[in-house]
Amino acid sequence: MKHLERETAMLTNIFDTHAHYDDEAFHEDRAEVLGTTLPEGGVVRVVDCAVDLLSSVRVLDLAHEYDYVYAALGIHPEQAGEERKGDLDMIAELLAKEDKAVAVGEIGLDYYWEENAPRDTQVDLFSRQLALSKDLGLPVIIHDREAHGDTMECLQKYRPAGVLHCFSGSVEMMKEATKLGMYIGLGGVVTFKNARKSVEVAAEVPLDKLVLETDAPYMAPVPYRGKRNNSTYIAEVAKKIAEVRGMDPQELIDICNENGKRLFQMAD
Ligand code: NI
Repeated sequence: MKHLERETAMLTNIFDTHAHYDDEAFHEDRAEVLGTTLPEGGVVRVVDCAVDLLSSVRVLDLAHEYDYVYAALGIHPEQAGEERKGDLDMIAELLAKEDKAVAVGEIGLDYYWEENAPRDTQVDLFSRQLALSKDLGLPVIIHDREAHGDTMECLQKYRPAGVLHCFSGSVEMMKEATKLGMYIGLGGVVTFKNARKSVEVAAEVPLDKLVLETDAPYMAPVPYRGKRNNSTYIAEVAKKIAEVRGMDPQELIDICNENGKRLFQMAD
């Protein structure tokens, strides 16, 4: 085990393309996590994702405070029912004027939770944010839970640039999405025991379309499953995907870092 731990510590150049560091799970030690734990754990870039207007402002604050943190601004499907008039206009204004706002996200469709807004409300909000991304020339970060059919329909219609985060579809859907130019985000799920579909996708996704992510504080990979996630744990995700593909974990991380920079139009 000692040897494995050392290997993990040696992995660097980690780009976490999806996290939520404004979440209350980080209230007690956010400065330590973002100021010390991540930089010392090999993390060089994070895209922090908002879920509504208020969180968009918080996420931007973090992006201003930490050089390596970037912001995605948008309204999450679970928040679709709480959208107030003008919220999206204000988010659009922030996206247009803030250099560190690199994507419209987290947006999408979530048909899993019964208490979520009705499907047509979600599709309407998703469509407006897809149109906004086209207007602004920014990529989207998409959440698709139990909504593969409608998600693909919206992608066909709007043809955005972007990523399907925490991808849970089949290999066939992955092929369809990457053909449309979408990136595929994979995280902790690939390390779970029951993750057959995700592992198949990890094995087959074109290497130039794969990005790594945490969805921190959620979705911690094995052996941290159930604990609070953070971007350094991407090492475990990279090791698993590299093993499946028969490649070196650091090489995989380096390729995914370049993919992320291309996806979010980052210069260096
Ligand atoms: Ni998320």
